[in-house]
Amino acid sequence: MKTFGCQMNVYDSERMSEALAAEGYVETSEPAEADLAILNTCHIREKAAEKVYSDLGRLRDIKRERARDGKETLITVAGCVAQAEGDEIVRRAPVVDLVLGPQSYHRLPELLARMRRGETSIVETAFPDEDKFQALPDRRPPRAVSAFLTVQEGCDKFCTFCVVPYTRGMEYSRPVAALVAEARRLVERGVREITLLGQNVNGYHGDGPDGAPTALAGLIRHLAEIEGLSRIRYTTSHPRDMSDDLIQAHRDEEKLMPYLHLPFQAGADRVLAAMNRKHTAGEYLDLIGRIREARPDIALSTDIIVGFPGESDADFEETLKLVEEARFAHAFSFKYSPRPGTPAATMDEQVPEDVKRERLARLQDTIDAGYRRFNGQFVGQTLPVLLEKTGRYEGQLVGRSPYLQLVHADADPARVGEIVEVEIRSAGANSLSGVICGSA
Ligand code: 5AD
Ligand code: SF4
Repeated sequence: MKTFGCQMNVYDSERMSEALAAEGYVETSEPAEADLAILNTCHIREKAAEKVYSDLGRLRDIKRERARDGKETLITVAGCVAQAEGDEIVRRAPVVDLVLGPQSYHRLPELLARMRRGETSIVETAFPDEDKFQALPDRRPPRAVSAFLTVQEGCDKFCTFCVVPYTRGMEYSRPVAALVAEARRLVERGVREITLLGQNVNGYHGDGPDGAPTALAGLIRHLAEIEGLSRIRYTTSHPRDMSDDLIQAHRDEEKLMPYLHLPFQAGADRVLAAMNRKHTAGEYLDLIGRIREARPDIALSTDIIVGFPGESDADFEETLKLVEEARFAHAFSFKYSPRPGTPAATMDEQVPEDVKRERLARLQDTIDAGYRRFNGQFVGQTLPVLLEKTGRYEGQLVGRSPYLQLVHADADPARVGEIVEVEIRSAGANSLSGVICGSA
């Protein structure tokens, strides 16, 4: 199983592994050993989508070699490229036995049986009526103290650059009761932190325990009641769905971590309008002002695109200005990549590649300076850190601060899963390190 792209795919890969484990499959990281290879793919930018075809080339060679030894190799393309390209994949790469859209993962065992009977080129990309989450088997022991939980899928926002509304479909929210049950099982197995996932997670509106629609803040409050669960996070949010109720939850709900990923995409209102973002730069700044009023220490992160069609030098300066003003703790930045079928792909005034590259480099310098500023302020302070795993050096553990910073500290590996107080001694762009001075 190879997973590309976002955390939703990571979660889906885990659930598929569980379904396959029930069928007797064991995971391997060695492609040549695999009776079944699954590529769980991402379609968000061209580079991500093209990686799949180079991997399929390698798998084709492996399949041939294994066939010489009399071994069968079944090849599956899952995820967003599967959903977006469907039949096109088997046409371009006939080596593929199964193309499996993200809404059909629960059908994997049945489809495997069909492949073992010799069927090839199966394309399964419909949006079935049944709920894949309910149909997937129960979760196995998690491998980590921090786990993902998909609560919402799909997006109805239709930003003009984005394929998500086409690959993941309309918004769908899982019911509160099913999520609380899944979260409880995770906690029983040692998970202390859960990150709620959704393409538009703060648009969550699942059925509550009493049948009434429940928003994300309501779901968080239900989850916060679970004893043993210490930390709750959620991602990714749209500024338009950042309700007052959710902002209040950041003030009142102790288990909700002070971190928020809130993409703004571009700083110029003209570009934001062409992106169909439904917010202006001013509205975004006003919103983060209100969030900081509720939770002054909150760490904000964001996504930014440079070189959207029609973006002028002056428009790009607005993006840099917004980055400075917003004081982000973290930011992901991308060159605009035209995606087939989206409105922006055919807009006039596509920006040349070298201009995009130059803007991205300037933006990343500004962002990096922000990381250093953000991390630097913690030197000398003490932070509660959830110890997650062993570090690169002997005797060292790595954990996360409430602000999602990686923190290194020397500790016994038996302490993984504990939340400890760490006095921060030094800060780099990508991590902090310090000394444990107590339990939190
Ligand atoms: N080109 C570049 N970046 C994109 N993103 C989404 N679509 C595109 C595209 N066509 C970025 C957005 C989004 C993040 C997940 O990926 O910034 O928030
Ligand atoms: Fe894509 Fe996010 Fe816009 Fe939805 S809100 S269309 S997922 S960028």
